[in-house]
Amino acid sequence: MQSRAKMLGHAVHPILIVFPLGLLATAVIFDIIRLVTDRDSFALSAGHMIGAGLVGGAVAAVFGLVDWMAIPAGTRAKRIGALHGAGNAVVVLLFLVSFLLRLNSTEPWQPNALALMCSFVGFAIAGMTGWLGGELVERLGVSVDDGANVDASSSLSRAPARATRSAGGRRTPATVTGKSSHPKTAIAVVRVGPYHRDLGLPRCPTATYGGPAVPPGTVVVSG
Ligand code: HEM
Repeated sequence: MQSRAKMLGHAVHPILIVFPLGLLATAVIFDIIRLVTDRDSFALSAGHMIGAGLVGGAVAAVFGLVDWMAIPAGTRAKRIGALHGAGNAVVVLLFLVSFLLRLNSTEPWQPNALALMCSFVGFAIAGMTGWLGGELVERLGVSVDDGANVDASSSLSRAPARATRSAGGRRTPATVTGKSSHPKTAIAVVRVGPYHRDLGLPRCPTATYGGPAVPPGTVVVSG
């Protein structure tokens, strides 16, 4: 299913999540470097990165919520999305506590043990919620264009992803030559131009096409 919040044809949420994930993870790395080297400048950088990561996380979460609301109720994707969203809310809260502790520290921006613990636990949870995000996209097809395939047309075109590219960028006419071999499913057998490439099928002059049942002789256009 397609994302509801898109920019230039691509989902906004995955574009924005690089900010919280990158900034908060780097803050944890800087905290570790500071623990090892005892150089306060790393704690200063970590504190500021957490602040920026929190802003990025809040903005990214809005677009994630928009996409999650469009997932049909009762599906596994809805449940995984809820777990992912709630887990990330906990991550943001933990880093917020860490940030406030650093902000109010007697030595400016130096984290105490609790601030460090909040960051480290938040980082660990973010690893799990990130995996759930990948599950949503790669396994459950959330935010994937319907009919996405290795030869789909550009996201900037108005054509659906299901439509295939044809040589020279032209649309390829396809003629329906037979009826579905599956009486209960709407599949037609079509003969297409020499440049036709089908979803996952080897290049061939005849292909089985999903879609509405159409009578033999009909000319359909792909691309
Ligand atoms: C700090 C906050 C968040 C972070 C860091 C984050 C991170 C991620 C990551 C890493 C993915 C996988 C992207 C990919 O593999 O392309 C993802 C996907 C997704 N997340 Fe989040 N997420 C956050 C908040 C939320 C919230 C609050 C929701 C609402 C329930 C949400 C809903 C989704 C959905 C529906 C997807 C599937 C892809 C899409 O819709 O674009 N996320 N998220």
